[in-house]
Amino acid sequence: MAYQLPQLETLQPGEAGRVTLTFHEDGRTYDLPVLAGTHGPKVVDVQRLYRDTGYFTFDPGFLSTASCDSTITYIDGERGILLHRGYPIEELAANASFLEVCYLLLYGALPNHSELTEFDRTITYHTMVQEKMKSFLEGYRRDSDPMAVMVGTVGALSAFYSAHMDVHDPQARAIATHRIIAKMPTIAAMAFKYALGQPFVYPRNDLDYAANFLHMCFAVPAEPYHVTKVQARAMNRFLVLHADHEQNASTATVRIAGSSRATPYACIAAGIASLWGPAHGGANAAVMAMLEKIGHRDRIPEFIARAKDKNDPFRLMGFGHRVYKNYDPRARVLRESCHEVLDELDKKDEPLFELAMELERIALEDSYFVERKLFPNVDFYSGIMLRAMGYPTPMFPALFALGRSIGWISQWKEMIESPAQRIDRPRQRYMGAPVRSYVPVDQR
Ligand code: SDX
Repeated sequence: MAYQLPQLETLQPGEAGRVTLTFHEDGRTYDLPVLAGTHGPKVVDVQRLYRDTGYFTFDPGFLSTASCDSTITYIDGERGILLHRGYPIEELAANASFLEVCYLLLYGALPNHSELTEFDRTITYHTMVQEKMKSFLEGYRRDSDPMAVMVGTVGALSAFYSAHMDVHDPQARAIATHRIIAKMPTIAAMAFKYALGQPFVYPRNDLDYAANFLHMCFAVPAEPYHVTKVQARAMNRFLVLHADHEQNASTATVRIAGSSRATPYACIAAGIASLWGPAHGGANAAVMAMLEKIGHRDRIPEFIARAKDKNDPFRLMGFGHRVYKNYDPRARVLRESCHEVLDELDKKDEPLFELAMELERIALEDSYFVERKLFPNVDFYSGIMLRAMGYPTPMFPALFALGRSIGWISQWKEMIESPAQRIDRPRQRYMGAPVRSYVPVDQR
């Protein structure tokens, strides 16, 4: 069945009226501009509020704060809608290669044949990393978390390439962008191989992006390795589904780091660091750990009860989302890919998958989760699919980082190229000690 485009209200971006703030202590009023975007909530522009009134806004966790203008991704959390440059994620995941999506996120339009061919060639011929990076990586302990390797190795790209690049030079930005897209799979595969104790596998220019990554992960010198169409399609879809997600924690980290004009390699390393957390990109690994901890469907009620207990830190990993108060559209697509991979690899009776399906069914019927709109998110199914493909749990966040790296570098590019670009520097509400004089140590 053809995908039905969601009906979204399309607005005229720009001024959309004003709101008036009244300070009740002295009756003062202050007008604030209201701005509209193409889709979604209007914003109250508070940029001049402190300068004109002496007041800050207060929004820990940024629940009600739009930190920037962006043209890359639109999310409607209530309706479970995700668009990249206007294209629904469902259509991109079903039809586009990851490099097509990379081009779309970077440049704003889907590439035609010649543009895609040239982009594909450019990325392909940047996939190798400097040979010295092998000895850099071999400085890690063998059992290092792959995310520790990714943070350090991607940050080290600054050392291997011009750390003091001029971020305002379009050519320098283009080269750095292409290097990030091209070298992330090579670095992620090296982190995987190093943990396995197997030799690194060089990229192959005759394979597409997803197949090349799988080949670097699973090939061994002892015998030829054939990437199956199903696995290449599943990896391509996994990468597309993780490509970008508006101003999530790791993307906001990349933007803040980049606002000081730090080298993009260091900014992407900062994004990897933020994604590492179990509340964010670490959730796919946490989902697997949770399913293994539950162990059997008979124990699901016990863990559902713990998830509701405010005194118990246990949360249902893979459920809930800061923005989606509906089913995460990526989870729906990944659920389908999960079925395909398990069927093709004859792992459809994978116990963890059956347990996940039962947990999803129970949670979606439970009023606690329904009232709080805690639906499965992108991480709920990705871990099961990745496990079936042969990745151990510690690699899952690194695979998420691989997919998200195009979103990070596209948002970094948009931020740096914005005429309004300035350093991000939030303020605070000071709750510390009142001003006081120093007391010499012998009088304390
Ligand atoms: C990703 O931002 C992005 O776009 C992220 C991401 C991306 O692509 O970049 O989509 C990727 O990070 C997906 C989310 C992966 N994280 C998890 O699956 C971890 C489990 N989820 C929770 O930690 C939580 O839902 C968050 C962190 C995702 C969202 O946290 P919020 O928005 O701060 O929500 P909240 O903690 O205020 O929850 C609201 C209520 C609370 O209960 P009450 O205080 O109202 O009684 O829901 C409860 C929470 O206790 N709740 C959960 C729960 N998540 C929230 N209860 C049980 N299990 C959960 N998973």
